[in-house]
Amino acid sequence: NEIYLHGLEDRVPPFTTDGTALGASARAHLDAGAFGYLAGSAGSGATHRANREAFDRHRLVPRMLTDATHRDLRTTVLGTPMPAPVLLAPLGVQSIVHPDAEPATARAAASLGLTMTLSTASSHTLEDVAEATSEGSADAAGASRWFQLYWPNDDEVCASILGRARRAGYTTLVVTLDTWTLAWRPQDLDRAYLPFIRGVGTAIPFSDPAFRAGLAKPPEEDLAAAVLRWVPMFTGTDRSWDRLPFLREHWDGPIVLKGIQHPDDARRAADAGMDGIVVSNHGGRQVDGAMASLDALPGAVRALEGTGVEVLFDSGIRTGADVLKALALGARAVLVGRPFAYGLAHGGEDGVRHVLRSLLADLDLTLGLTGHRTPDELTPGDLHLR
Ligand code: FNR
Repeated sequence: NEIYLHGLEDRVPPFTTDGTALGASARAHLDAGAFGYLAGSAGSGATHRANREAFDRHRLVPRMLTDATHRDLRTTVLGTPMPAPVLLAPLGVQSIVHPDAEPATARAAASLGLTMTLSTASSHTLEDVAEATSEGSADAAGASRWFQLYWPNDDEVCASILGRARRAGYTTLVVTLDTWTLAWRPQDLDRAYLPFIRGVGTAIPFSDPAFRAGLAKPPEEDLAAAVLRWVPMFTGTDRSWDRLPFLREHWDGPIVLKGIQHPDDARRAADAGMDGIVVSNHGGRQVDGAMASLDALPGAVRALEGTGVEVLFDSGIRTGADVLKALALGARAVLVGRPFAYGLAHGGEDGVRHVLRSLLADLDLTLGLTGHRTPDELTPGDLHLR
C-alpha cells in the first residue's frame, strides 16, 4: 500500500533496491577510497562474481494454489527469536562509509527487530553500539546483539574484549576464521589501506584497556605504534582448532564459526562443540578463485546433518529470492553485507532501514509467490539447477 500510494503522489522510493544498481549509486556518495573498501573484493574479483553466478544458476520453482495469503517470516536462530531469517553481517570500520557509522546501522536494524553482528573492527566501541541498539529497539526488551570476533593471539586482550561484549549484552559470538590476514585487495592496496587504518583508530581493540596497557602512548597520540601492535596481534594462524576451548571458557553463549567452506571443516566445528557455522567466503574478499559460497552450502549442510549445529549463510545475498535459495539449500538464516552498507552510504540510518525494509518486503512477497507461508517450508526440491 505504501508503494502504491507513493506512486499516486508522484513520489517514488529514494533509490532502487537491486543490489548491483544500489552499489553503483552508492559510488556517487563516496570517494574512490571509501567505495573501493566497501565494494571491493580480492584479486580479480572472480569469487565475488562466482557468488552471484551461483545464485543465477539456482532458480526457484513456484508452487500454485497453496494459499500463501498470510505469511510468517519469524524464526529462531541459535535461541535468538528473529522477525525474519535475515541478519546484518559484521562490517568493520563503517565510519569509512558514513560518519554516523555503526550506531546508525544498529538503530536501523533494531527498529526492525533485526540482529546486527558487530565487528571487532567497529569504528565505535561495542558499548556505544549496544546503547544504540537499545535506542533503536521498538520493544523494551531490546533487539538482540551479536558480536563478531577477530581472534587476537594475545589471550589477555581476547578475554578483555569478550568480557566487555558479554557485559554489554551481546549474546552470540561469531568467530571469523577466514581473515587471519587481509587478502590481496587491489582497490585497497592502491591506497595503502589508508581509509581503513584511519578509521580503525577508534575501533574496539584500540579502546580496550588490555590493548592500551601494552602501549607506551595512547593511540590518540601515536597511531603508528598502536597499528604496529595491532597488526601482528590479529594476523597469523596460531589460533588453531585446539584453541577453541579458550573461547568457550570466556563465552557462555552460543559460538558460531564464520568462513567455513569445506565439509570437513564443518564437521570439525561440530566435533569442537560449536553451536553454528556461517558458510561464507567473506563476500569474495579473501581467496580470489575460491568456490561460490552458495555452492559450498549443500556440502556443509550434509556434513552437519543430525548434529544440531545450525548453518547460516552469507556472500552474495542481494534479493528476497536469494534468501529463499539459501534457505532451500538448508541455511537457517542469511547474513547480508554490502547492501545495507550501500544504504548507509546513501542516507545513514534511514538508508540502512530503507534497504532492509525493501529486502524484507521482497522476501515476503517472493515467499508467498513461490507458494510458501513460512521460511522453513523450503527444501532443495523448490530449486531448479541450470
Ligand atoms: C566485511 N566482512 C567482514 N566480516 C567480518 O567477519 N568482520 C568484518 O569486520 C568484516 N568487514 C567487512 C567490511 C566490508 C566493507 C565488507 C563488504 C565485508 C564480510 C561480511 O561479514 C560478509 O561475510 C560479506 O560482506 C558477505 O557478502 P556480501 O553480502 O557483501 O556479498
